[in-house]
Amino acid sequence: MGSILDQLPDSVSIYEVGPRDGLQNEASTVGTVRKLRLIEALIEAGCKRVEITSFVSPHWIPQLADADNVASMTQARDGVTLSALCPNAKGLARAQAAGMHEIAVFLSASETHNRRNINKSVDEAVAVFRELIPEARALGMRVRGYVSTVWGCPYEGDVDPRRALELAKTLLSLGCYEISLGDTLGVGTPRQTEEILQLMLSELPANQLAMHMHDTRGQALANVLVGLSLGIRTIDAAIAGLGGCPYAPGASGNLATEDLVYMLHHMGIATGIDPEKLWDAGRVAEAIVRHELPGRVHRAGLRSLKG
Ligand code: HMG
Ligand code: MG
Repeated sequence: MGSILDQLPDSVSIYEVGPRDGLQNEASTVGTVRKLRLIEALIEAGCKRVEITSFVSPHWIPQLADADNVASMTQARDGVTLSALCPNAKGLARAQAAGMHEIAVFLSASETHNRRNINKSVDEAVAVFRELIPEARALGMRVRGYVSTVWGCPYEGDVDPRRALELAKTLLSLGCYEISLGDTLGVGTPRQTEEILQLMLSELPANQLAMHMHDTRGQALANVLVGLSLGIRTIDAAIAGLGGCPYAPGASGNLATEDLVYMLHHMGIATGIDPEKLWDAGRVAEAIVRHELPGRVHRAGLRSLKG
């Protein structure tokens, strides 16, 4: 009898969001040098795609007010893509000045979260991105897109996945190369994930979709497994389970990168990441935020792959 495990890929691309999604949510701001230590540790572990910061308003996210310095002080490496959130033209100018080759735009599938997060209606946000994405592309940048609150909204509850699909299609048509679908709150469960992804995949190719699952209720890996079985090959994760969205009350960290890598490697799925060095990067994350982090493998330790 077949199972979803028959449909899994040989390799998965992990998009690391800890330095951005993680550190934006810390109660106290982490200094620039400490942020750079974490980014270096992640790259050293083999992370090939790292979201290092956000060029958003420092009034809104003071924790990442040093984005310009973080970006310009992060050493570029062959084969490593660095990205950063960018909400508007001012953010794009900052990203360009800091030498970024990729940015990520973001909006929500629910109206209230979008307003609380970026002070615009969803339509107003689309209007901004209608200009911003082609401008970034003309500067030679790649643009990733996020659609948040796909699995549920902290203010509105259920969200119509057809709205998320329309927004994903719009962002792709404007020039994004990939859309990361966000369970911002961490409320989703596997059957819902199957329904959402089947709807997305009825109109969009799997290689243009990614999953961004906050692990608030411990469902992230189960949801990811469903996504992988349906053809999704890019998964967002945050080192040691850092993260959350300051404008999504009740949300906790992203799926921990170590937990994802542990599951994938033990199932024979390659990520290009060294689990031991990644575990070390989790220790760096904990040292720089100066409190315990929730990742399961981070806390329990690695079992040897041999035994
Ligand atoms: P606004 O207040 O409407 O913007 O904010 P504004 O244009 O009126 O500007 C207000 C002030 O901000 C001005 O400064 C601007 O210069 C400044 P002042 O003159 O008063 O000193 N400003 C900027 N400064 C630097 N860089 C900029 C910038 N833009 C304006 N780019 C805005 C609108 C979008 C800027 C604001 O709402 C914002 O920055 N929001 C970002 C919120 C955020 O980062 N949330 C977390 C990330 S999203 C997330 O976590 C979800 C995700 O992980 C996926 C998932 O989990 O589902 C991606
Ligand atoms: Mg997030």
